[in-house]
Amino acid sequence: MENAHPSNSNLLLGQTMSFTDDPFHAGPESSVTHHRRGAVLLRDGMIADIGPADTLRAAYPGAPVTDYGAGLISAGLIDAHAHYPQTAMIASWGKRLIDWLNSYTFPEEMRFADPEVATETAARYLDLTRANGTTTIASFCTIHPTSVEALFAAAQMRGQRLVAGKTCMDRNAPVDLRDTAQSAYDDSKALLERWHGVGRLSYAITPRFSPTSSPAQLSALGSLWAEHPDCLMQTHLSEQTDEIAWVHELFPEARDYLDTYEMHGLLGPGGLYGHAIHLTPRERDRLREVDAGLIHCPTPNTFIGSGLFDMAGLMAEGQRIGLATDTGGGSSFSMLRTMAAAYEIGQLRGAALHPAQLLWLATVGSSRALRMDDRIGNLAPGMEADLVVLDLASTPAIAQRSARAGDIWEAIFPTIMMGDDRAVQAVWMNGTLAASG
Ligand code: GUN
Ligand code: ZN
Repeated sequence: MENAHPSNSNLLLGQTMSFTDDPFHAGPESSVTHHRRGAVLLRDGMIADIGPADTLRAAYPGAPVTDYGAGLISAGLIDAHAHYPQTAMIASWGKRLIDWLNSYTFPEEMRFADPEVATETAARYLDLTRANGTTTIASFCTIHPTSVEALFAAAQMRGQRLVAGKTCMDRNAPVDLRDTAQSAYDDSKALLERWHGVGRLSYAITPRFSPTSSPAQLSALGSLWAEHPDCLMQTHLSEQTDEIAWVHELFPEARDYLDTYEMHGLLGPGGLYGHAIHLTPRERDRLREVDAGLIHCPTPNTFIGSGLFDMAGLMAEGQRIGLATDTGGGSSFSMLRTMAAAYEIGQLRGAALHPAQLLWLATVGSSRALRMDDRIGNLAPGMEADLVVLDLASTPAIAQRSARAGDIWEAIFPTIMMGDDRAVQAVWMNGTLAASG
């Protein structure tokens, strides 16, 4: 602590919540530090200090103060799997995965051949997610390199942290949405070299899923990953049973769905496997052995009828799990709504997730899956200053419930279950006030 206060410092007051441990393993109550009247000092885009408000006010008397009252200051929310090109077709009715892709998704993604569609959608998508308190996103793009350029450029302008990649598909998709093994490699490599590690942007090698990539394309992308092992690799795994049956037909030599990736160099610690619902024991063992990231996308579990993710079982065996909207197979842009869906899926599987576990998944859990927990996902000195301030009484329905809360968890849970962008009182990204509601 010190007394010099450059003008790029900000002292935020409110309730603060930070994680000292993993609430799935250490227990919800003993993994959190909560200050009812707390403060966070931001400096040069980083969190410089956190503690009781009185202590920090005394330590930094010159820092400009923003007082959020009873608002809950949390690390910014991290959406570990989304499809920004599906923004305008979210909530499309009546289909399960494969029909949903063919009827709604592929026609929409074809529109991104037009760079203006990409630029306009990227801006709208990042505005929507920011308004929902999401400060980091891992997103698929379309097969068009310009769709990747558009999203990176828009995130760079806003200061949002972004992981993104060109979605690669060379079969089982409309002709206009197909690349080749070689062009997928070349385009991905060029985009990676241009954007990976630029500011807060990083590139993820992105085969959509095994049904839409030939073995040659999977191998080419496996080679690219081997050449750039510091990149993440994002894809889909075992979302619906008919998808899995199709994978078995397409890859008769593979032991299981995960093996279609493993055989082609696409299984590793920086691998992000979206959905991971219907896993075999071998797949679970291999995912844990390599310490891959499993991304739970709870709203599409029900919205496109995929099935119920086994959070309790997978956590108990030590899997690395993040949380995500999966916009627009997911039915919301909101990570609050996504936490609520994770709670509901847990209930249907006989495991009630504690509010601390839900909040942890949307922050630390996702940052661990993205291998960025040294930089984002928690309120702690040295972390990037990405924060969301939640109004725990944002609607009359929530306010009357939280007024009866006996403790902080009862105060937070109604906002998790019933909250949306109206609960987002402010968003700070990279140390700058990005939105206030
Ligand atoms: N599997 C392959 N592509 C997709 C997609 O765009 N959304 C979802 N939910 N699953 C997929
Ligand atoms: Zn997806």
